[in-house]
Amino acid sequence: MAVAPSGGTGRDGWSSRTAFILAAIGSAVGLGNLVRFPAEAASNGGGAFVLFYIFCIVLIGLPVLLSETLIGRHGQSSATQSVRRLAVESRASPYWEGLAGLGVLAAFMILAFYCVIGGWVLYYIGLFFLDLFQSGVTGGALQGLSAEQIEAIFPALQADGFTMSGFDIAFVAITLYFVARGVSGGIEVVAIWLMPAFFALLLLITIYGAFGGAFTDTLGYLFTFDFSKLTGEVMLAAVGQAFFSLSLGVAGMITYGSYVGRDVNLAGTSAIIAFADTSVALVAGLCIFPIVIAAGLSTEGGLGLMFATLPHAFQSMPFGSVIGLAFFIMVGFAALTSSVALMEVPTSWAMEKFKTSRALTAITVATLAGLLGVASAYSLNTMSGFHPLGFIPLFEGEGVFSALDSVTAKLFMPVGALLVCIFVGWIADPKLVDSENGLDGALHKFWRFLVRYLCPAALLAIMVAGLSG
Ligand code: PHE
Repeated sequence: MAVAPSGGTGRDGWSSRTAFILAAIGSAVGLGNLVRFPAEAASNGGGAFVLFYIFCIVLIGLPVLLSETLIGRHGQSSATQSVRRLAVESRASPYWEGLAGLGVLAAFMILAFYCVIGGWVLYYIGLFFLDLFQSGVTGGALQGLSAEQIEAIFPALQADGFTMSGFDIAFVAITLYFVARGVSGGIEVVAIWLMPAFFALLLLITIYGAFGGAFTDTLGYLFTFDFSKLTGEVMLAAVGQAFFSLSLGVAGMITYGSYVGRDVNLAGTSAIIAFADTSVALVAGLCIFPIVIAAGLSTEGGLGLMFATLPHAFQSMPFGSVIGLAFFIMVGFAALTSSVALMEVPTSWAMEKFKTSRALTAITVATLAGLLGVASAYSLNTMSGFHPLGFIPLFEGEGVFSALDSVTAKLFMPVGALLVCIFVGWIADPKLVDSENGLDGALHKFWRFLVRYLCPAALLAIMVAGLSG
């Protein structure tokens, strides 16, 4: 039974602390850990990036995560209303709610292209399923193809706007199903079932890779800290990745925090969430690189690492079809618990704003995100000449898909997180903030120092470098 966390207001909420922790980990753990982290680590010099990334998670990500969840828990309503409430109670301008408004918009934009990638994952699940189904465990249809033919599947998919749109809509529809069922009836259910399954699959595939793959080479690759490689660019990439991975700066953790009961210690749970997210990113590296390195393939190649290089590598290993299928199912689980979080942010906002029912609101959000997703899918082929933000030099030449990605990563997320720090560190009444954060003594002083000084300074630096580059 769901326990209303908001002191009898009847608002839907997490049924337990564990449900909140699993849902928040589900939001954090996603394509960011499995696709973006290995790709970023590979193109930013391996170990140096990894070490600085961990540093960013602890010193910047974690304080911001706690700040977002405490705003939500205090407000017990949608992201914008929660910020507004804390602002008004602190005798500050209600317009601070704009910071969450930006986040809601950003979450919607990420949702649109995230589901396109989710659609690719569905497509590969289908591919490996057919492979297994058609020809038994090891001699699947993909194995009849040459390495080049397997790698060519991904560019062919990207060239096919119609197929991508179909899979995108399917992924949006699955996400919608759970969001429409509510927080305790849908969103936490998907997390409670899928996250343990995700962890089990990740462990199994990592062990498989450790025995069959180049595990020691990978350890050397990921954990050799060559500090000469720690350039400004690498540091910026690491901070950006930390935000994306912890779902920060897009009002997502404000929204999830708003469903948390008063009995939960937010500092402790934020630490668990950040620890789990970081561990998954590292283990994902330990899972993916051994397989790729053992097959003698390049670890570079961005999205192609997962969708072209890995399928090729799987096919050169024993039980490749089964492992490939298990791998993409695992990625699908992680992507779904994140897309659910992304859809919940605009849904909870619009439900409160327009006083509409959850089902109707979620259907509307899903339809709009689906349309934008279809535009993103076609921007990779037929519409590649259309550059919606072409008038801004930073986004010159980017189609809908990559513009959505860049504008959220380079602009919305850092600005959102910066505003959260300024709001919680300088504007909100410290008494109210302290009644929520679950910290005392030296740790409390340290957290306040980070939120007031270090995080804003670091974020400003990212933005200056990001916007000028
Ligand atoms: N953190 C998710 C991932 O790593 C993405 C995400 C961003 C989810 C923002 C929700 C909000 O894939």
